[in-house]
Amino acid sequence: MPDAVATPAADPSEPPLARAVRAALRVVHDPETGQDVVASGMLQGLSARDGMVQFTLTVPRERARQMEPLRAAAERVAAAVPGVLSATCVLTAHRDAPTPGRGREGGQEAGQGVPPRPAAAPAGPARFSRPPPGQGQMLLPDVRAIVAIASGKGGVGKSTTAVNLAVALAADGKRVGLLDADIYGPSLPQMLGLRERPRAAAGRLEPVERWGLRAMSIGLLVEPETAMIWRGPMVMGALEQMLGQVDWGPLDVLVVDMPPGTGDAQLTMSQRVPLAGAVIVSTPQDVALIDARRGVRMFQKVNVPVLGLIENMSYYCCPQCGHRADLFGHGGARAEAERMGVEFLGELPLKLEIRQLADAGTPIVMARPESHEAESYRAIARRLSAKLTAAPAGPRIIVE
Ligand SMILES: Nc1ncnc2c1ncn2[C@@H]1O[C@H](COP(=O)(O)OP(=O)(O)OP(=O)(O)O)[C@@H](O)[C@H]1O
Ligand SMILES: [Mg+2]
Repeated sequence: MPDAVATPAADPSEPPLARAVRAALRVVHDPETGQDVVASGMLQGLSARDGMVQFTLTVPRERARQMEPLRAAAERVAAAVPGVLSATCVLTAHRDAPTPGRGREGGQEAGQGVPPRPAAAPAGPARFSRPPPGQGQMLLPDVRAIVAIASGKGGVGKSTTAVNLAVALAADGKRVGLLDADIYGPSLPQMLGLRERPRAAAGRLEPVERWGLRAMSIGLLVEPETAMIWRGPMVMGALEQMLGQVDWGPLDVLVVDMPPGTGDAQLTMSQRVPLAGAVIVSTPQDVALIDARRGVRMFQKVNVPVLGLIENMSYYCCPQCGHRADLFGHGGARAEAERMGVEFLGELPLKLEIRQLADAGTPIVMARPESHEAESYRAIARRLSAKLTAAPAGPRIIVE
Protein backbone atom coordinates (compact mmCIF):
# COMPACT_ATOMS: atom_id res chain seq x y z
CA MET A 1 0.00 0.00 0.00
CA PRO A 2 1.48 3.39 -0.88
CA ASP A 3 2.72 5.52 2.03
CA ALA A 4 0.36 8.35 1.24
CA VAL A 5 -2.65 6.25 2.08
CA ALA A 6 -3.67 5.94 5.67
CA THR A 7 -6.34 3.67 7.05
CA PRO A 8 -8.88 5.37 9.30
CA ALA A 9 -7.00 4.22 12.36
CA ALA A 10 -3.59 5.22 11.04
CA ASP A 11 -4.10 8.96 11.09
CA PRO A 12 -5.73 10.24 14.25
CA SER A 13 -5.04 13.84 13.19
CA GLU A 14 -7.35 13.51 10.18
CA PRO A 15 -10.41 15.75 10.59
CA PRO A 16 -13.53 13.80 11.63
CA LEU A 17 -15.41 14.47 8.39
CA ALA A 18 -12.49 13.26 6.25
CA ARG A 19 -12.22 10.20 8.46
CA ALA A 20 -15.94 9.49 8.06
CA VAL A 21 -15.67 9.82 4.28
CA ARG A 22 -12.62 7.56 4.19
CA ALA A 23 -14.48 4.95 6.20
CA ALA A 24 -17.57 5.21 3.99
CA LEU A 25 -15.51 4.78 0.82
CA ARG A 26 -14.53 1.29 1.93
CA VAL A 27 -17.80 0.06 0.46
CA VAL A 28 -16.67 1.12 -3.02
CA HIS A 29 -14.87 -1.75 -4.72
CA ASP A 30 -12.78 -1.84 -7.87
CA PRO A 31 -14.70 -4.43 -9.94
CA GLU A 32 -11.50 -5.80 -11.47
CA THR A 33 -9.45 -6.42 -8.34
CA GLY A 34 -12.34 -6.70 -5.90
CA GLN A 35 -10.43 -4.47 -3.46
CA ASP A 36 -12.03 -1.43 -1.91
CA VAL A 37 -10.69 1.95 -3.01
CA VAL A 38 -9.18 2.72 0.40
CA ALA A 39 -7.37 -0.56 0.99
CA SER A 40 -6.07 -0.62 -2.58
CA GLY A 41 -4.49 2.82 -2.17
CA MET A 42 -6.54 4.33 -4.99
CA LEU A 43 -7.93 7.01 -2.69
CA GLN A 44 -5.61 10.00 -2.59
CA GLY A 45 -5.64 13.65 -1.63
CA LEU A 46 -8.79 13.47 0.49
CA SER A 47 -9.74 16.86 1.86
CA ALA A 48 -12.86 17.89 3.73
CA ARG A 49 -13.46 21.46 4.69
CA ASP A 50 -16.70 23.19 5.58
CA GLY A 51 -18.64 20.23 4.27
CA MET A 52 -16.86 20.33 0.90
CA VAL A 53 -15.13 17.05 0.17
CA GLN A 54 -12.61 16.46 -2.58
CA PHE A 55 -10.49 13.45 -3.39
CA THR A 56 -8.92 11.61 -6.28
CA LEU A 57 -8.91 7.96 -7.27
CA THR A 58 -5.62 6.97 -8.82
CA VAL A 59 -6.07 4.35 -11.49
CA PRO A 60 -3.80 2.64 -14.00
CA ARG A 61 -3.59 4.75 -17.13
CA GLU A 62 -4.87 2.00 -19.42
CA ARG A 63 -8.00 1.51 -17.31
CA ALA A 64 -8.78 5.19 -16.76
CA ARG A 65 -11.53 5.26 -19.33
CA GLN A 66 -13.46 2.36 -17.81
CA MET A 67 -13.35 3.80 -14.34
CA GLU A 68 -16.00 6.50 -14.66
CA PRO A 69 -18.71 4.38 -12.95
CA LEU A 70 -16.34 3.79 -10.05
CA ARG A 71 -15.62 7.52 -9.81
CA ALA A 72 -19.32 8.35 -9.87
CA ALA A 73 -20.08 5.69 -7.23
CA ALA A 74 -17.35 7.01 -4.95
CA GLU A 75 -18.66 10.54 -5.35
CA ARG A 76 -22.19 9.40 -4.49
CA VAL A 77 -21.03 7.51 -1.41
CA ALA A 78 -19.02 10.50 -0.17
CA ALA A 79 -21.91 12.88 -0.81
CA ALA A 80 -24.20 10.71 1.31
CA VAL A 81 -22.00 10.94 4.41
CA PRO A 82 -23.75 13.08 7.04
CA GLY A 83 -22.20 16.54 7.14
CA VAL A 84 -21.04 16.48 3.52
CA LEU A 85 -22.51 19.31 1.45
CA SER A 86 -20.74 18.52 -1.78
CA ALA A 87 -18.32 15.85 -2.94
CA THR A 88 -16.00 15.92 -5.92
CA CYS A 89 -14.02 12.93 -7.05
CA VAL A 90 -11.50 13.19 -9.86
CA LEU A 91 -9.80 10.28 -11.61
CA THR A 92 -6.07 10.55 -12.08
CA ALA A 93 -3.87 8.15 -13.96
CA HIS A 94 -0.74 6.61 -12.48
CA ARG A 95 2.22 8.83 -13.12
CA ASP A 96 4.54 6.83 -15.32
CA ALA A 97 8.01 8.22 -15.78
CA PRO A 98 7.80 10.30 -18.96
CA THR A 99 9.47 8.60 -21.88
CA PRO A 100 11.92 10.99 -23.54
CA GLY A 101 10.72 12.26 -26.88
CA ARG A 102 7.38 10.48 -26.60
CA GLY A 103 4.91 12.03 -29.01
CA ARG A 104 1.14 11.96 -29.17
CA GLU A 105 1.40 8.74 -31.13
CA GLY A 106 3.30 7.05 -28.34
CA GLY A 107 1.38 8.51 -25.45
CA GLN A 108 -2.14 8.06 -26.74
CA GLU A 109 -3.52 4.63 -27.11
CA ALA A 110 -4.63 3.89 -30.63
CA GLY A 111 -8.26 3.83 -31.61
CA GLN A 112 -9.59 5.97 -28.81
CA GLY A 113 -11.09 8.64 -30.94
CA VAL A 114 -8.57 11.40 -30.36
CA PRO A 115 -8.39 13.50 -33.48
CA PRO A 116 -4.97 13.75 -35.08
CA ARG A 117 -3.12 17.04 -34.73
CA PRO A 118 -3.54 19.41 -37.64
CA ALA A 119 -0.65 19.31 -40.05
CA ALA A 120 -0.01 23.00 -39.37
CA ALA A 121 1.39 22.19 -35.96
CA PRO A 122 3.69 19.20 -36.13
CA ALA A 123 5.39 18.02 -32.98
CA GLY A 124 8.54 20.14 -32.75
CA PRO A 125 11.88 19.08 -31.39
CA ALA A 126 11.92 21.30 -28.31
CA ARG A 127 10.03 19.73 -25.41
CA PHE A 128 9.62 21.24 -22.00
CA SER A 129 10.94 19.13 -19.21
CA ARG A 130 8.34 18.15 -16.71
CA PRO A 131 8.81 19.05 -13.05
CA PRO A 132 9.93 16.12 -10.92
CA PRO A 133 7.06 14.36 -9.18
CA GLY A 134 6.18 15.65 -5.75
CA GLN A 135 4.51 13.92 -2.85
CA GLY A 136 1.00 15.05 -3.79
CA GLN A 137 -1.19 13.63 -6.49
CA MET A 138 -0.96 15.77 -9.57
CA LEU A 139 -3.73 16.19 -12.05
CA LEU A 140 -2.65 16.26 -15.72
CA PRO A 141 0.34 13.93 -15.54
CA ASP A 142 0.85 14.10 -19.32
CA VAL A 143 1.18 17.86 -19.51
CA ARG A 144 4.72 19.11 -19.33
CA ALA A 145 4.10 22.75 -18.47
CA ILE A 146 0.99 24.56 -17.30
CA VAL A 147 1.08 28.32 -17.63
CA ALA A 148 -1.58 30.62 -16.18
CA ILE A 149 -2.32 33.89 -17.94
CA ALA A 150 -3.59 36.12 -15.17
CA SER A 151 -4.12 39.65 -13.95
CA GLY A 152 -5.43 41.24 -10.82
CA LYS A 153 -7.94 43.32 -12.77
CA GLY A 154 -10.66 42.45 -15.26
CA GLY A 155 -10.77 43.42 -18.90
CA VAL A 156 -7.05 44.02 -19.41
CA GLY A 157 -6.77 41.46 -22.21
CA LYS A 158 -5.91 38.16 -20.51
CA SER A 159 -8.10 36.08 -22.81
CA THR A 160 -6.90 37.85 -25.95
CA THR A 161 -3.31 37.33 -24.83
CA ALA A 162 -3.87 33.70 -23.83
CA VAL A 163 -5.46 32.82 -27.17
CA ASN A 164 -2.80 34.51 -29.27
CA LEU A 165 0.09 33.10 -27.24
CA ALA A 166 -1.42 29.61 -27.45
CA VAL A 167 -1.80 29.88 -31.22
CA ALA A 168 1.76 31.19 -31.51
CA LEU A 169 3.11 28.29 -29.42
CA ALA A 170 1.17 25.79 -31.54
CA ALA A 171 2.44 27.36 -34.75
CA ASP A 172 5.93 26.90 -33.34
CA GLY A 173 5.34 23.15 -33.23
CA LYS A 174 4.36 22.72 -29.59
CA ARG A 175 1.47 20.49 -28.55
CA VAL A 176 -0.73 23.10 -26.94
CA GLY A 177 -3.90 23.03 -24.87
CA LEU A 178 -5.93 26.09 -23.94
CA LEU A 179 -8.14 25.94 -20.87
CA ASP A 180 -10.68 28.62 -20.13
CA ALA A 181 -10.63 28.81 -16.33
CA ASP A 182 -13.14 31.65 -16.34
CA ILE A 183 -16.21 29.83 -15.12
CA TYR A 184 -18.33 32.96 -14.72
CA GLY A 185 -17.46 34.65 -17.99
CA PRO A 186 -15.91 32.20 -20.44
CA SER A 187 -14.61 33.91 -23.58
CA LEU A 188 -12.74 31.20 -25.45
CA PRO A 189 -15.71 29.88 -27.47
CA GLN A 190 -16.09 33.31 -29.06
CA MET A 191 -12.39 34.09 -29.39
CA LEU A 192 -11.68 30.74 -31.04
CA GLY A 193 -14.90 30.71 -33.07
CA LEU A 194 -16.09 27.48 -31.46
CA ARG A 195 -19.69 26.32 -31.86
CA GLU A 196 -19.46 22.55 -31.53
CA ARG A 197 -19.93 20.79 -28.23
CA PRO A 198 -17.08 18.64 -27.00
CA ARG A 199 -17.61 14.93 -27.57
CA ALA A 200 -17.80 12.65 -24.56
CA ALA A 201 -16.33 9.17 -24.64
CA ALA A 202 -16.27 6.75 -21.74
CA GLY A 203 -17.11 9.48 -19.29
CA ARG A 204 -14.33 11.76 -20.45
CA LEU A 205 -14.56 14.85 -22.61
CA GLU A 206 -12.56 15.44 -25.76
CA PRO A 207 -11.17 18.95 -26.08
CA VAL A 208 -12.20 20.81 -29.20
CA GLU A 209 -9.49 21.28 -31.83
CA ARG A 210 -8.98 24.72 -33.38
CA TRP A 211 -6.07 26.66 -34.87
CA GLY A 212 -3.65 23.85 -34.04
CA LEU A 213 -4.55 23.64 -30.38
CA ARG A 214 -6.93 21.73 -28.11
CA ALA A 215 -9.35 23.85 -26.13
CA MET A 216 -11.90 23.44 -23.36
CA SER A 217 -14.25 25.95 -21.81
CA ILE A 218 -17.32 25.76 -19.61
CA GLY A 219 -18.89 27.92 -22.32
CA LEU A 220 -18.81 24.86 -24.60
CA LEU A 221 -20.74 22.80 -22.07
CA VAL A 222 -23.56 25.10 -20.97
CA GLU A 223 -25.82 27.33 -23.04
CA PRO A 224 -24.47 30.88 -23.36
CA GLU A 225 -27.65 32.30 -21.88
CA THR A 226 -27.47 30.04 -18.84
CA ALA A 227 -26.88 32.27 -15.87
CA MET A 228 -23.73 31.06 -14.26
CA ILE A 229 -24.35 31.27 -10.59
CA TRP A 230 -21.56 29.28 -9.07
CA ARG A 231 -20.46 29.24 -5.50
CA GLY A 232 -16.78 28.97 -4.65
CA PRO A 233 -16.67 25.18 -4.21
CA MET A 234 -18.64 24.72 -7.45
CA VAL A 235 -16.05 26.81 -9.29
CA MET A 236 -13.35 24.59 -7.89
CA GLY A 237 -15.30 21.47 -8.83
CA ALA A 238 -15.95 22.66 -12.38
CA LEU A 239 -12.29 23.55 -12.82
CA GLU A 240 -11.11 20.24 -11.48
CA GLN A 241 -13.43 18.44 -13.86
CA MET A 242 -12.05 20.39 -16.79
CA LEU A 243 -8.55 19.46 -15.66
CA GLY A 244 -9.07 15.88 -14.57
CA GLN A 245 -11.88 14.61 -16.77
CA VAL A 246 -10.88 16.12 -20.09
CA ASP A 247 -8.78 13.95 -22.33
CA TRP A 248 -6.07 16.51 -22.96
CA GLY A 249 -3.59 13.89 -24.13
CA PRO A 250 0.12 14.59 -23.90
CA LEU A 251 0.80 18.32 -24.17
CA ASP A 252 3.95 20.41 -24.15
CA VAL A 253 2.09 23.30 -22.66
CA LEU A 254 -1.37 23.98 -21.32
CA VAL A 255 -2.17 27.70 -21.44
CA VAL A 256 -4.78 28.63 -18.86
CA ASP A 257 -6.88 31.74 -19.37
CA MET A 258 -7.58 32.83 -15.81
CA PRO A 259 -10.56 34.81 -14.58
CA PRO A 260 -9.87 38.25 -13.15
CA GLY A 261 -8.89 38.65 -9.54
CA THR A 262 -7.25 36.53 -6.93
CA GLY A 263 -10.11 34.26 -5.88
CA ASP A 264 -11.12 30.61 -5.84
CA ALA A 265 -10.06 29.75 -9.37
CA GLN A 266 -6.57 31.16 -8.82
CA LEU A 267 -6.18 29.18 -5.62
CA THR A 268 -7.54 26.00 -7.18
CA MET A 269 -5.14 26.27 -10.07
CA SER A 270 -2.13 27.09 -7.96
CA GLN A 271 -2.84 24.30 -5.49
CA ARG A 272 -4.23 21.46 -7.61
CA VAL A 273 -1.98 21.40 -10.64
CA PRO A 274 1.77 21.78 -11.02
CA LEU A 275 1.80 25.28 -12.49
CA ALA A 276 5.08 26.00 -14.25
CA GLY A 277 4.35 29.66 -13.79
CA ALA A 278 2.08 32.62 -14.29
CA VAL A 279 2.18 35.42 -16.82
CA ILE A 280 0.62 38.64 -15.59
CA VAL A 281 -1.14 40.90 -18.08
CA SER A 282 -1.58 44.57 -17.25
CA THR A 283 -2.40 47.83 -18.94
CA PRO A 284 -0.05 50.75 -18.28
CA GLN A 285 -2.47 52.59 -15.99
CA ASP A 286 -1.60 52.97 -12.33
CA VAL A 287 -4.84 51.38 -11.21
CA ALA A 288 -4.29 48.28 -13.32
CA LEU A 289 -0.71 48.05 -12.15
CA ILE A 290 -1.75 48.02 -8.51
CA ASP A 291 -3.89 44.99 -9.32
CA ALA A 292 -1.09 43.42 -11.34
CA ARG A 293 1.14 43.76 -8.29
CA ARG A 294 -1.52 42.00 -6.22
CA GLY A 295 -1.68 39.21 -8.82
CA VAL A 296 2.10 38.79 -8.79
CA ARG A 297 2.09 38.62 -5.00
CA MET A 298 -0.74 36.07 -4.96
CA PHE A 299 1.22 33.67 -7.15
CA GLN A 300 4.45 34.29 -5.29
CA LYS A 301 2.70 33.53 -2.01
CA VAL A 302 1.67 30.08 -3.25
CA ASN A 303 5.14 29.46 -4.69
CA VAL A 304 4.16 29.72 -8.32
CA PRO A 305 6.93 31.43 -10.29
CA VAL A 306 5.89 34.58 -12.12
CA LEU A 307 7.31 34.12 -15.61
CA GLY A 308 6.85 37.75 -16.52
CA LEU A 309 4.62 40.73 -17.17
CA ILE A 310 3.00 41.75 -20.47
CA GLU A 311 1.81 45.28 -21.09
CA ASN A 312 -1.38 45.14 -23.13
CA MET A 313 -3.02 48.18 -24.70
CA SER A 314 0.41 49.65 -24.30
CA TYR A 315 -0.28 52.44 -26.78
CA TYR A 316 -3.01 53.24 -29.28
CA CYS A 317 -2.39 52.61 -32.92
CA CYS A 318 -4.76 54.48 -35.29
CA PRO A 319 -6.08 52.09 -37.94
CA GLN A 320 -6.29 54.93 -40.52
CA CYS A 321 -2.97 56.70 -40.29
CA GLY A 322 -0.94 54.46 -37.97
CA HIS A 323 -0.49 57.39 -35.57
CA ARG A 324 0.49 56.29 -32.10
CA ALA A 325 -0.95 57.75 -28.88
CA ASP A 326 -0.21 56.72 -25.30
CA LEU A 327 -3.82 56.62 -24.08
CA PHE A 328 -3.17 54.96 -20.75
CA GLY A 329 0.41 56.16 -20.37
CA HIS A 330 3.12 53.84 -21.62
CA GLY A 331 5.85 51.72 -20.11
CA GLY A 332 4.23 51.43 -16.68
CA ALA A 333 4.28 47.64 -16.71
CA ARG A 334 7.94 47.54 -17.76
CA ALA A 335 8.87 49.84 -14.88
CA GLU A 336 6.69 47.86 -12.49
CA ALA A 337 8.21 44.57 -13.64
CA GLU A 338 11.67 45.98 -12.91
CA ARG A 339 10.56 47.14 -9.49
CA MET A 340 9.16 43.70 -8.64
CA GLY A 341 12.13 41.85 -10.12
CA VAL A 342 10.07 39.95 -12.71
CA GLU A 343 10.81 39.81 -16.42
CA PHE A 344 9.07 42.18 -18.82
CA LEU A 345 7.97 39.91 -21.66
CA GLY A 346 6.68 42.46 -24.15
CA GLU A 347 3.96 44.89 -25.10
CA LEU A 348 0.94 44.93 -27.40
CA PRO A 349 -0.77 48.06 -28.71
CA LEU A 350 -4.46 48.83 -28.37
CA LYS A 351 -5.44 48.09 -31.92
CA LEU A 352 -8.89 47.77 -33.46
CA GLU A 353 -7.85 44.76 -35.50
CA ILE A 354 -6.85 42.78 -32.41
CA ARG A 355 -10.35 43.20 -30.99
CA GLN A 356 -12.16 42.66 -34.28
CA LEU A 357 -10.28 39.47 -35.07
CA ALA A 358 -10.70 38.21 -31.50
CA ASP A 359 -14.45 38.83 -31.70
CA ALA A 360 -14.57 37.03 -35.04
CA GLY A 361 -12.93 33.93 -33.58
CA THR A 362 -9.80 34.28 -35.67
CA PRO A 363 -6.90 35.39 -33.44
CA ILE A 364 -4.58 37.91 -35.09
CA VAL A 365 -1.61 35.53 -34.91
CA MET A 366 -3.57 33.18 -37.12
CA ALA A 367 -5.43 35.69 -39.32
CA ARG A 368 -2.65 38.27 -39.87
CA PRO A 369 0.58 36.37 -39.26
CA GLU A 370 2.55 39.06 -41.09
CA SER A 371 1.39 41.87 -38.78
CA HIS A 372 3.63 43.60 -36.28
CA GLU A 373 1.29 42.48 -33.47
CA ALA A 374 1.43 38.81 -34.51
CA GLU A 375 5.22 39.05 -34.41
CA SER A 376 5.02 40.58 -30.92
CA TYR A 377 2.91 37.65 -29.71
CA ARG A 378 5.28 35.18 -31.35
CA ALA A 379 8.30 36.86 -29.73
CA ILE A 380 6.65 36.60 -26.31
CA ALA A 381 5.75 32.96 -27.00
CA ARG A 382 9.37 32.21 -27.94
CA ARG A 383 10.59 33.86 -24.76
CA LEU A 384 8.10 31.82 -22.73
CA SER A 385 9.20 28.59 -24.44
CA ALA A 386 12.81 29.39 -23.63
CA LYS A 387 11.96 30.03 -20.00
CA LEU A 388 9.93 26.84 -19.69
CA THR A 389 12.65 24.74 -21.30
CA ALA A 390 15.44 26.28 -19.27
CA ALA A 391 13.89 26.31 -15.85
CA PRO A 392 11.07 23.88 -15.19
CA ALA A 393 9.26 24.75 -11.98
CA GLY A 394 9.58 22.66 -8.91
CA PRO A 395 6.60 20.48 -8.12
CA ARG A 396 3.45 22.10 -6.85
CA ILE A 397 2.16 19.89 -4.15
CA ILE A 398 -1.53 19.45 -3.66
CA VAL A 399 -2.10 20.77 -0.19
CA GLU A 400 -4.30 19.32 2.58
N1 LIG B 1 -4.45 44.83 -27.55
C1 LIG B 1 -5.76 44.98 -27.76
N2 LIG B 1 -6.23 45.82 -28.70
C2 LIG B 1 -7.57 45.98 -28.90
N3 LIG B 1 -8.51 45.37 -28.20
C3 LIG B 1 -8.09 44.51 -27.24
C4 LIG B 1 -6.71 44.26 -26.97
N4 LIG B 1 -6.62 43.36 -25.97
C5 LIG B 1 -7.88 43.06 -25.64
N5 LIG B 1 -8.76 43.76 -26.39
C6 LIG B 1 -10.23 43.74 -26.31
O1 LIG B 1 -10.57 44.15 -25.00
C7 LIG B 1 -11.66 43.42 -24.50
C8 LIG B 1 -11.24 42.71 -23.20
O2 LIG B 1 -10.22 41.79 -23.53
P1 LIG B 1 -10.19 40.36 -22.88
O3 LIG B 1 -11.53 39.74 -22.88
O4 LIG B 1 -9.07 39.62 -23.51
O5 LIG B 1 -9.80 40.78 -21.39
P2 LIG B 1 -9.78 39.88 -20.08
O6 LIG B 1 -8.69 40.43 -19.21
O7 LIG B 1 -9.71 38.45 -20.44
O8 LIG B 1 -11.20 40.20 -19.48
P3 LIG B 1 -11.92 39.44 -18.26
O9 LIG B 1 -11.23 39.93 -17.04
O10 LIG B 1 -13.34 39.89 -18.36
O11 LIG B 1 -11.73 37.99 -18.48
C9 LIG B 1 -12.05 42.45 -25.60
O12 LIG B 1 -13.09 43.02 -26.34
C10 LIG B 1 -10.80 42.34 -26.46
O13 LIG B 1 -11.10 42.07 -27.82
MG1 LIG C 1 -11.00 36.86 -19.93
